[in-house]
Amino acid sequence: MSTPPPGSLVLGPYVLPNRLFVAPMAGVTDRPFRVLCKKLGAGYAVSEMVTSRKDLWNSLKTSRRANHEGESAPISVQIAGTDASMMAEAAAYNVDRGAQIIDINMGCPAKKVCNKWAGSALMQDEALALEIVEAVVAACAPRGVPVTLKMRTGWCQAEKNAVALARAAESAGVAMVTVHGRTREQGYSGRAEYDTIAAVKAALRIPVVANGDIDTPHKAREVLAATGADAIMIGRAAQGRPWIFAEIAHFLATGEELPAPRIADAKGWLIEHLHDHYALYGELTGMRSARKHIGWAVRALPGGEDFRRRMNTLETCDGQVRALTDWLDALADDHDRLPYLPTADDAIDGALDDADTDAAAAANDEHQDQERRLTA
Ligand SMILES: Cc1cc2nc3c(=O)[nH]c(=O)nc-3n(C[C@H](O)[C@H](O)[C@H](O)COP(=O)(O)O)c2cc1C
Repeated sequence: MSTPPPGSLVLGPYVLPNRLFVAPMAGVTDRPFRVLCKKLGAGYAVSEMVTSRKDLWNSLKTSRRANHEGESAPISVQIAGTDASMMAEAAAYNVDRGAQIIDINMGCPAKKVCNKWAGSALMQDEALALEIVEAVVAACAPRGVPVTLKMRTGWCQAEKNAVALARAAESAGVAMVTVHGRTREQGYSGRAEYDTIAAVKAALRIPVVANGDIDTPHKAREVLAATGADAIMIGRAAQGRPWIFAEIAHFLATGEELPAPRIADAKGWLIEHLHDHYALYGELTGMRSARKHIGWAVRALPGGEDFRRRMNTLETCDGQVRALTDWLDALADDHDRLPYLPTADDAIDGALDDADTDAAAAANDEHQDQERRLTA
């Protein structure tokens, strides 16, 4: 590796182009969406989680999740599970299929594996969590593959063990830690807090990434300042708005806000994303799963909600592309740039609440359901 530019964020042999990451989101951050975000300014993307259950590795869902064609390095794959040797095997399996970084999910509720909840549930069992980290590092280190960890601030308010777990993970060889500023018990309620992330950053030598409720360039700057984090990770605010990475990068570099994208540019990016999406999923699944992306892209625009409802009745990929093209062209008759409506302060909470009744936001919905079951 040639000497990286000063101040670069380095992960093993990889020099990341910037410090703005797109968060792993099951049902959302598939390869087409990651490629789109990277093209529009994200410096790093983590795949949706892949289960450590071997019997599911050949399923269509898992093989689509392991598809990295055309994605720029480093390819980071998140794995979830509750058994150390299975997780080590899953890491090796994904490295064989192109993963260049392995991320361990202790940040969101993964499905039950062998009768135990994976993901953030592991934070309650520090010994098991560490056993998993050590096994995955042992599988990856000989192959030069960095292992990273994504966690929450703790299991519940009374047990915020992020600092202890992050320290132990660093000692075990983890190369970077991401912290979502909520406890597992909180699900997505309340606001993310950044003090615990700041404490993790202060306690570690490896890079620490701050995550949770970052939805504007101003918020990005505030969170970086409040936590001292080496990078920030953005999830829900990138849904339908993948250009948020370029907006944040510009603001951090200049202190000035970029105007919203030109409608013609946004149309080009969105339609290209749709074609990439259909190519991965095929006509029927692609048409259905593209609805949420289109819905998110139009939700904050005038007439977006009506369009979304109408678009959800269309049954072909061609029909979706034509409808979105026509709708954006009509919007461009009156506007040069995307005319975003003012958003409420709790725009992110709202996005998830809407998802309860909104078929187009099925990915958020499914995720919320899992959170609710776990915290009930
Ligand atoms: C639909 C959805 C799916 C998610 N899936 C995952 C996942 O597979 N792995 C993970 O670690 N976190 C997952 N998360 C959590 C996000 O990575 C992120 O930590 C969380 O949304 C907070 O960031 P935000 O406020 O920027 O959205 C998911 C979140 C959402 C909304």
